[in-house]
Amino acid sequence: MPKKNVTADESAVQEKAVAVEEPVTAEAAEKPVRKTAAKKSAAKKTETAEAAEKPAKKTAAKKPAAKKDATAEAAEKPVKKPAARKKTVKAETAESAPAAETPAEENLNDITVEIYEEPAEAAPPVEEAPAEEMSLPQPRRSVAFIGSECYPFVKTGGLGDVMYALPKALAARNCDVKVILPRYKCIPRKWQEKMVYRGEFMMDLCADGRSFYVGIMEYVWDGVVYDFIDNEEFFSAGNPYINLIDDIPRYCFFSKAALAALNYMNWVPDIVHCHDWQAALVPIYLRTLFAGTPVASAKSVLTIHNLRFQGLYGIPTIKYWSGLPDHVFNIDVLKQGYDDANMLKGGLAYADMITTVSPTYAGEIQTPFYGENLDAHMRHHAYKLRGIVNGIDTVQWDASTDSKLAANYDAENVIAQKRANKRALQEALGLEQDEGKFVIGLISRLTDQKGLDLVNAILPQLIDGNTQVVVLGTGDAHYEDSFRWFEQAYKGSVCSYIAYDEGLAHQIYAASDALLVPSLFEPCGLTQLIAMRYGTVPIVRETGGLKDTVAPYNQYENSGSGFTFDRYETGLLLDAINRAKTLYFTERERWDEMVRRDMARDVSWGVSAEQYRALYLELKP
Ligand code: ADP
Ligand code: GLC
Repeated sequence: MPKKNVTADESAVQEKAVAVEEPVTAEAAEKPVRKTAAKKSAAKKTETAEAAEKPAKKTAAKKPAAKKDATAEAAEKPVKKPAARKKTVKAETAESAPAAETPAEENLNDITVEIYEEPAEAAPPVEEAPAEEMSLPQPRRSVAFIGSECYPFVKTGGLGDVMYALPKALAARNCDVKVILPRYKCIPRKWQEKMVYRGEFMMDLCADGRSFYVGIMEYVWDGVVYDFIDNEEFFSAGNPYINLIDDIPRYCFFSKAALAALNYMNWVPDIVHCHDWQAALVPIYLRTLFAGTPVASAKSVLTIHNLRFQGLYGIPTIKYWSGLPDHVFNIDVLKQGYDDANMLKGGLAYADMITTVSPTYAGEIQTPFYGENLDAHMRHHAYKLRGIVNGIDTVQWDASTDSKLAANYDAENVIAQKRANKRALQEALGLEQDEGKFVIGLISRLTDQKGLDLVNAILPQLIDGNTQVVVLGTGDAHYEDSFRWFEQAYKGSVCSYIAYDEGLAHQIYAASDALLVPSLFEPCGLTQLIAMRYGTVPIVRETGGLKDTVAPYNQYENSGSGFTFDRYETGLLLDAINRAKTLYFTERERWDEMVRRDMARDVSWGVSAEQYRALYLELKP
């Protein structure tokens, strides 16, 4: 495969940390596989070989070396026809392709699909919707979420949070939700052990017909069904994102395997909801190689969590690994520049609807500054672009029950209990123990997106004897080094904890007075939402979702939820922090009122999940 230098932006992804709660050893990852083999004989095959995955050729010779022995055996076994209802699904013609090019109608034959009645216990438990929602006429909708990370299995940032919390919120709103994820080896053992073998098949992937093993491992939890796509050759690395050279093939595989798995499971959703470039080929596959198969009746939604990451690589490589037809490698779809293909760009062209994670970012990405070279493409597709702001899971983030905190609290006792959390954090991190200090937290991937150049430039001016700064993050080496240096230079006042630590994050949210999010750009941002929920006042730059979620403090009306600044300038950030400190040290009652106001704000998924649901209904009335 031709190699190419990874751009600075793309390589930033490599720096992302992975939430691994315990080391996953080679044996540990093997364990569920052995289990799988044992379960296999009991597992009933639900489909004919053809319906299982049409393009797959079950040739033993083509099986990858990494394929497990147990699965190899199973693949050879004649597939038993179940005593199930049988129906013929009339293939649909390819539809709603971008005007510039009509996708070829690759699979237009009628397809015979065995419909298999699921055993009752396999049905996902559905959370009860609140009474007022139950009374509304609510047609049930089914959605397959397809994305590269999901808390608590694997998370490097906010995408993982959204992939966990939004499906849960939708399941509580009369939606059937399946979340389809890669089965990375780094998923902690305690989750791997809960997964149950759901099936396997071989799937053609590459332009030369090379085929790969696809296993499906399932876990049902909290009303949501999680299906993990298994293939050791692609997903055995320790981190979900390695570098583009490896990531392009694995996410081509993942996107195609996700759709093939839906066909295999006979679970045809109303909507396939794809997330970021890693799943961006899904809308294209849906209308090309899967046209005429059952899953093609679904509509596609592609959500941009961060336009900076696009899956940009040479056309020959993406053409080879995706196996997509030549006609989608044109300038309106996948092609970019002279010889590159852009997976996100292609997905945006083919998706029935595009969303991004805040209304402001939806506008920003249509401008050259925020458009990451796709602003013209975004403007072209603006008619199907919506901005829906993220929420957070208010059960996961609840200071009154959070077991990671030194002292639990609610809006009633937040002021006193925050002090207790502050003392505990200061002690744990070796900061001067003084609850009178103004503690500023920063929890972030350490990349240039997050406005860290501004923070580095003003940090010495913040340390005035009354202020402490706590940084938690991993990322680009130069930021990690500069924060480490500040910790040495301002011992007792600055702590730079260069790591990914879920528990410490909770403690910093609870113990800090303010949380800094001075981003250069921020599609939505979740840390400011979590901060408000924990009574910690956000100090943010007015961009993207930060602008949509943090109302600036108004001293005349005594209103607002945080301190904000607009232009990306050090002086303005310093001024915003100083305004916060002034209120904190001179008008504490007003500060405390803001803390309580923030805690009372609705940062849940409630409103936004309804918006997604309405959007699904609009696509599939
Ligand atoms: P992004 O997705 O751009 O990284 P978000 O604000 O949307 O930013 O989400 C970041 C999520 O990752 C939050 O849940 C935050 O608490 C978490 N997080 C970021 N860095 C760390 C870290 N070093 N340790 C623990 N959690 C982190
Ligand atoms: C991205 C963005 C962040 C957003 C998150 C979840 O990582 O950088 O702003 O909150 O996705 O949508």
